[in-house]
Amino acid sequence: MVALVTGASSGIGEATARRLAATHRLVLVARREDRLQALAAELGGATVVAVDLTADDAPDRVRDAVESAHGRLDLLVNNAGAAWRGRFDEHGAEGVFRHMRLNFDAQVRLTEALLPLLRRSAPSAIVNVSSVAGRIARANSGAYSASKFALAGWSESLHLEERAHGVHVGLVLPGYVETEGFPARELTSRPLLRWIVSTPEKAAEAVVDAGLRGKPERYVPRPYGLIAVARILAPWLLRQVGRGRIGATLTTSTGAELSEAEGEAGPRAY
Ligand SMILES: NC(=O)c1ccc[n+]([C@@H]2O[C@H](COP(=O)([O-])OP(=O)(O)OC[C@H]3O[C@@H](n4cnc5c(N)ncnc54)[C@H](OP(=O)(O)O)[C@@H]3O)[C@@H](O)[C@H]2O)c1
Repeated sequence: MVALVTGASSGIGEATARRLAATHRLVLVARREDRLQALAAELGGATVVAVDLTADDAPDRVRDAVESAHGRLDLLVNNAGAAWRGRFDEHGAEGVFRHMRLNFDAQVRLTEALLPLLRRSAPSAIVNVSSVAGRIARANSGAYSASKFALAGWSESLHLEERAHGVHVGLVLPGYVETEGFPARELTSRPLLRWIVSTPEKAAEAVVDAGLRGKPERYVPRPYGLIAVARILAPWLLRQVGRGRIGATLTTSTGAELSEAEGEAGPRAY
């Protein structure tokens, strides 16, 4: 069995690669080759493709590497992603397009390149890593939410379309998971709020549920699924949360550019 994990150089992707190492031959994809090579060595060998997934030739490069090294693909985990926080009137359309290029377009383009191989290897599976932010939007992260809503909607449709071809499509929607890109320090530093933050290992287990155990969608931590229910049943409540009137401390940061913007507009959630 062969599994490809994008964003395998850190966080949820790295934990997923570790989780799958005992049962799958791995293809590790991200930009930081040194990290991928170190992980491959630690796991006893893996195919490494160091590539920027937003580059024009990325899908062809990844497909060629998988074809020549393995000739099959049983599991594709579209996990690579990032968030740059800010208001629409600060970052404008380009801020939205930047998120879409990495968090949506890159997943769609890679899936298109690998789908023939996945169908040939069926039964096989695709897991798309969206976010709770792909079910509910908050201020200052509209561009990120747009990309994750798009990924969730597209995944649900693909799930229905690919059944006939033996390719299961599962969706993972993480809430707060402590990683390099999403450190959630404001939560982890407060004992009363620490429990809200999950681990990359638990997110990796959710990927296994959505990929190998046939779940159509999986929240991590699981109670975050209630947010999707609340969005339908009590949208007013979520608007209060979004405005910061309830749970104003549910905040996190995501890397250098995000931190730069924090002082002005407050931190970003999931
Ligand atoms: N952690 C959370 O709280 C949380 C919550 C909801 C959703 N998520 C989603 O979970 C996924 C994984 O995030 P994470 O928390 O594990 O963050 P992370 O530790 O920052 O990992 C992100 C991964 O994506 C890769 N990546 C970023 N840009 C890339 C590019 N242009 N081309 C190729 N690879 C790229 C990074 O590798 P390189 O830098 O080496 O390229 C890294 O391996 C993301 O899609 C994120 O939106 C996370």
